Amino acid sequence: MLREPQATVPPLARDTATAATAVAHPNIALIKYWGKRDERLILPWTDSLSMTLDVFPTTTRVRLDPEAAHDEVTLNGEPATGEAHRRVGAFLELVRERSGLSQRAVVDTRNTVPTGAGLASSASGFAALAVAAAAAYGLGLDATGLSRLARRGSGSASRSVFGGFAVWHAGPADAAATQADLGSYAEPVPTADLDPALVVAVVNAGPKAVSSREAMRRTVDTSPLYRPWADSSRDDLADMRAALGRGDLEAVGEIAERNALGMHATMLAARPAVRYLSPATVTVLDRVVRLRRDGVPAYATMDAGPNVKVLCRRADAARVADAVREAVPDGTVLVAGPGPGARLLNEDG
Ligand code: PMV
Repeated sequence: MLREPQATVPPLARDTATAATAVAHPNIALIKYWGKRDERLILPWTDSLSMTLDVFPTTTRVRLDPEAAHDEVTLNGEPATGEAHRRVGAFLELVRERSGLSQRAVVDTRNTVPTGAGLASSASGFAALAVAAAAAYGLGLDATGLSRLARRGSGSASRSVFGGFAVWHAGPADAAATQADLGSYAEPVPTADLDPALVVAVVNAGPKAVSSREAMRRTVDTSPLYRPWADSSRDDLADMRAALGRGDLEAVGEIAERNALGMHATMLAARPAVRYLSPATVTVLDRVVRLRRDGVPAYATMDAGPNVKVLCRRADAARVADAVREAVPDGTVLVAGPGPGARLLNEDG
C-alpha cells in the first residue's frame, strides 16, 4: 500500500506578520541536482529527488524593522559577513520585490549542525528563511510557492520545504523565464514502507575547496561526461520513483549509488577536474561494498564534499554505523531517519 506523502503544513495566508519563525531540516539527494541552466533563477538541467532528514534543524526568525537601513543577519549568534550576508540580503530583496514592502529585516538563524559537521546547511537554511520571510512579509504562499521561493536561495532548499521524500522538477527547459520559474518546484513523492536510515559519515569537516556553484558551472561548461550523466539521471529518476513506490530499498540504494558516482565522474572529467572524494571517502565506499557482500543492504551517496551518507534499513543502521566507525575511526558517524517538512513556529502568533 502506498503511503500518503508527508504533507507540509502550509503557512497561514495572513496579513503581514512583521515577525515569523520557521524551522527546516536538511535533505540528502538520492538523485542528484548537479548543473544549472539558469544561474539567476536557479533552474537545474535535471530533476532531483531527496530524503529530508530528522536531524540538525535550522531555526530562523525574520522580523521587519521599519527603522533599519540595512538587513541585519545573525548566524548562530554571530553577525553574518561576506558571502553569507550577501546571499541572505539578495534573497530578502526578492521577497521585498514580491511583497511590495520596503522594510529591512532582522534575521536570526540557528543551525543545530555541530560546528563543522560537514552536513550542508544551505538547504535547511534557505527553506527556513523562505518560510519565515514569506510569512513576515505576508506573501501568503502555499507549499509549492514556498518551494519555488526557497529554490532561489539554494536549489536543494526547494526540497527541504517537504518532509520525507521529495522530487524537484527542473521545469520546462525551453520556456520563457516566468514559465520556467513557475515550473520548477519540489513536491512530495509517494513511497511504500521502506523504513530507511541514512548513516552519515563525516570524514572531513573542513570547508570545501571549490564551492558547489563554481563546481557545477565548470562541470556543465567543460565536462564531456556531463550530458551523458544528465541523460542517464532522467532514467535513474524514473527507476527511483518505481523502486520507492514498491518499497524496494535495495533498488533505491543501487540507483542512488550509481547516480552519485556518476555525478562525481562528471566532475572528475571537468577541466580542471573537481575532486571532492578523499582517501577516507574511498575507505568508507570499500566498507559499504563489504557490508553488501556480508548480506547487509547498504548503499553510499556523496555530495560536494568527502563525507559519505549510507542508505540502509533502519533495522541495520546500528550495524552499518559500527562498521563505518571502525573503517574511519577519526570520523564522526551518526544515524538519521526521514524528517518533517519546513513549518512556521507559533511563537510569533
Ligand atoms: O543547493 P546547492 O547549491 O547547495 O547544491 C547542492 C548540490 C548537491 O548537494 C551536490 C546535490 C543535491 O542534489 O543536493
